[in-house]
Amino acid sequence: MAESPPLIDPRDTFALGVCFYPEHWPRERWQPYARQMRELGIGYVRIAEFAWAKMEPRAGQFDWTWLDDAIEVLAGEGLKVILCTPTATPPAWLIHAHPEILPVDIDGHVRNFGSRRHYEPASDIYRAESRRITTAIAARYGEHPAVAGWQTDNELGDHETARSWGEVSHRGFQAWLQERYETLDALNQAWGAVFWSQAYSAWEEIGLPHNQPASPNPSHLLDFYRYRSEVIVRFQEEQVAILRKLSPGRWVTHNFMRFFDEFDHYQAAACLDFATWDSYPTGGVELSWLSDAEKARWARTGHPDLISFSHDCYRGLWGENRGPWVMEQQAGQINWAPYNPLPARGAVALWTAQGYAHGCDVISYFRWRAATVAQELMHSGLLRHDETLDRGGEEIAALELPGRPNAPVQPRVVLLHDYESLWVYDAQPHSQDASYWRQLMLFYTALRELGVDVDVRHPDHDLAGYDLIVAPAIQLMGAGRARHLAVAAREALLLCGPRTAYRTPTGRVHEDGQPGPLTDLLGCKLKNVDSMRPGLICHVGSHPVEIWAESYAPRGGDALHTYSDGPMAGEAAVVRHGNAVTLGAWSPSLIREVLAGLLTERGIPHELLPEGVRVGRRGGLTTWMNFNQAPVTLPDGKLLGPVSFELQ
Ligand code: GAL
Repeated sequence: MAESPPLIDPRDTFALGVCFYPEHWPRERWQPYARQMRELGIGYVRIAEFAWAKMEPRAGQFDWTWLDDAIEVLAGEGLKVILCTPTATPPAWLIHAHPEILPVDIDGHVRNFGSRRHYEPASDIYRAESRRITTAIAARYGEHPAVAGWQTDNELGDHETARSWGEVSHRGFQAWLQERYETLDALNQAWGAVFWSQAYSAWEEIGLPHNQPASPNPSHLLDFYRYRSEVIVRFQEEQVAILRKLSPGRWVTHNFMRFFDEFDHYQAAACLDFATWDSYPTGGVELSWLSDAEKARWARTGHPDLISFSHDCYRGLWGENRGPWVMEQQAGQINWAPYNPLPARGAVALWTAQGYAHGCDVISYFRWRAATVAQELMHSGLLRHDETLDRGGEEIAALELPGRPNAPVQPRVVLLHDYESLWVYDAQPHSQDASYWRQLMLFYTALRELGVDVDVRHPDHDLAGYDLIVAPAIQLMGAGRARHLAVAAREALLLCGPRTAYRTPTGRVHEDGQPGPLTDLLGCKLKNVDSMRPGLICHVGSHPVEIWAESYAPRGGDALHTYSDGPMAGEAAVVRHGNAVTLGAWSPSLIREVLAGLLTERGIPHELLPEGVRVGRRGGLTTWMNFNQAPVTLPDGKLLGPVSFELQ
């Protein structure tokens, strides 16, 4: 764990925040806005993440007067300021002088100036510019008493910018490979380059894994993704080091995105004090794998588990729970999804309570006043274009959450998540309907439907103290990780999902088949896998299975459930061996039944909640949440209104 300076801002009670763009509004509006923010119960204001051209209108010529004033105005109302490094928006003069810092898309086209995130973080030139502007802003405001903390950049990787496919990236990748493998023999072996005559005889021969006539080698892809992830991590670490030096006692965070997965968030968060993430529940539904009918079902409230998973994931990136915050909470309509429905009445308040229940210290809304210019003028704020309070603003004005204690969330169940497993899973999903996230969410949703609180951890984190470890899709398995899980499973029950331990850490499969080094622990061998197209279905007893099914040959373990029909009829779908259970079928009801049995075995309270209802516990408080647009009866007989919550 990175050592952090003492926080000047102990966030021990729940608070609200808002994203504010003083540069978008006349100076004389700042004061009334700041007062109104305070009156609405807002405590934190995030500013300046896109304001580089306002700070430095010409190379080397800084104008801080507006930012000095903005901070003073906010501080004058007792608001705490979150300052940002503005590196998501390098100014036009910088791009004009150095067009080579622009990113390149997967088809080899340069991505131009005129929106945001138009930079290649692997570029030495851009890295020097990032350090220069970070130093300038931190030197000026690092010790300002109103500055509570920092956000680096903005949504690293957004708009598919984590991976760039140009010359800078290509050379960087070759150097990274040379350092990792040292010899070409080692690389050729790790990648299985004997296949299709892919063997390399010089580092310069190695290209990027794109635009090949057939699919790229998955090991090549995995290493390129690892390299690009490290680029992002180093970029962030450089900024954090500068902020730590010039802004002592302040926290540093970054605003991650919901299910964004193009870099390893565990590594990117290691240098931060806590994580924040940007929650847009209606957009999350629109961009998800849900069917059209399910999308319509959740269009106005968001899907409860798609939201909660991010809270739980970002809370635990260090192997311990911290924060998290929502840095940008949807507060009305968004503008960027294929459809942008108006959220249901009560949704903004419900999302806020949900964040509180899942351990958030602060929920900060996007944005103060709806933009009257440019790309986001169709996006809601707390204020409408005409400065009247919008629906989201009305809902937060009525909230009674601020000031409540930020007690810890302490689940007895942990779910394992690993970005490298995700990258290889999605490189060869073997079904266009299967994905890592979708498989992981089958297990997460089952736990949440059973009313259970969940921590999310990396498989290599310390797992001591949990009663139940759920590993839905940990596909990469080396000997070390296998030993670690075996030790954890001496105390805890362990449930592994399909394709667990399918491959080695370089993306090959195990020479002794699956689950390779987990075979002794799981007491079974993988036998058959089945990728089912729409319309194909099989069963495990009364449980229907769709999309993916696999069967096992017990090796010391006992078959708990077998397939009743289809090509694997009679073969094991679920195997138990000591504390370990392996489950191979995409079947929500089977997963729920197996999980309920394991929860009962460990005495973890659970019950199947009414559809669309979720519960979360934090300290002594239980938050009941109704995502239905109709009232529901809770298990204790109480009635909970549509799209609402209740604290007990
Ligand atoms: C986020 C981004 C914000 C704003 C918002 C609109 O992804 O960080 O700057 O663009 O989306 O929903």
